[in-house]
Amino acid sequence: MRIAVIPGDGIGLEVIPAALRALALLTEEMGLDLDWEVFDWGARRWLAEGVGLPDGATGMLASQYRAILFGALGDQRIPDMAHGRAILLGLRTGLDLYVNYRPLFLPLATVDLYRENTQGLYAGVGGTVADVAADTCVYTRQAVERFVRYCLRDLSGRSRRRVTLVHKANAVPHTGRLWQQVFHAEVAAFPELTATEEYVDSFCYHLVRDPSRYEGVLTENLFGDIASDVGAALMGGLGFAASANLCPETGFGLFEPVHGSAPDIAGTGVANPHAAMMSAAMLLGHLGYRTAAGHLRACLREAAPAATTEEFTKTVLSMLRRRLKDNV
Ligand code: IPM
Ligand code: MN
Repeated sequence: MRIAVIPGDGIGLEVIPAALRALALLTEEMGLDLDWEVFDWGARRWLAEGVGLPDGATGMLASQYRAILFGALGDQRIPDMAHGRAILLGLRTGLDLYVNYRPLFLPLATVDLYRENTQGLYAGVGGTVADVAADTCVYTRQAVERFVRYCLRDLSGRSRRRVTLVHKANAVPHTGRLWQQVFHAEVAAFPELTATEEYVDSFCYHLVRDPSRYEGVLTENLFGDIASDVGAALMGGLGFAASANLCPETGFGLFEPVHGSAPDIAGTGVANPHAAMMSAAMLLGHLGYRTAAGHLRACLREAAPAATTEEFTKTVLSMLRRRLKDNV
């Protein structure tokens, strides 16, 4: 099984190598059928050659690889992040990775947060004329339906009992109503799930005060982007938040830490590789390597915090070696 690795910019170039060391160890010790190729897409190529996502990249990835391990994009020389949109959003839409699963692992609760990943304000509908700028939030029923259906099935498979739709239908009524209609129509097929709704502002408030109110949370693209950073803060920082971008129909997945390229600390060796490693664990699980994924997750749960990327990576690697040797 081949995976494509895109470290990107900044600390992506530090945390992805750390995650690859964990993958290499597991591959070798457990005899996994796994190899990877690294692609240098990011700010350097964008600035030097004007290339973001090379022509034909999504087709090539879909046909030759099973999944992507992705780092982060962002560079101070490209302040509008044009390359970030071209590459990351290009991969999400080009590979139709419409489910963005961003679980929040908290001391008293795990919140399964699902973000729609292809439409809404990210649909690319808008423009600027003179002094008027518009970004339009667009949702099709088909996009909401397929997303909601997948999430409900997934939550049910995880034995979750409560599901909350997060929207802003009081102020943004058209897409808000579409989401409400689809959500209630679809959730009726899951009697084991108790459905509630929450406005996104109220949701952020309650999430911080008492995250145990929530089990499964479904939301649209921008709200999910924002809420996942709130969730990351609750986890202890962006360095702990991992994510999966999935196309359930093709089975393709892109796994990435929620954090960005962190130019303020890039190159200093102190980036937390936890989220990148956890994303790699999610990738292993997605490929069917559940035992390997479980080992890596367990080590990440138990590893003591460290001052540097190298120190934390070494800790996790030695814990992994010990687990494999003791055959736990
Ligand atoms: C994320 C990021 C991206 C997003 C940016 C880099 C376009 O913030 O993955 O959360 O908004 O989706
Ligand atoms: Mn974000």
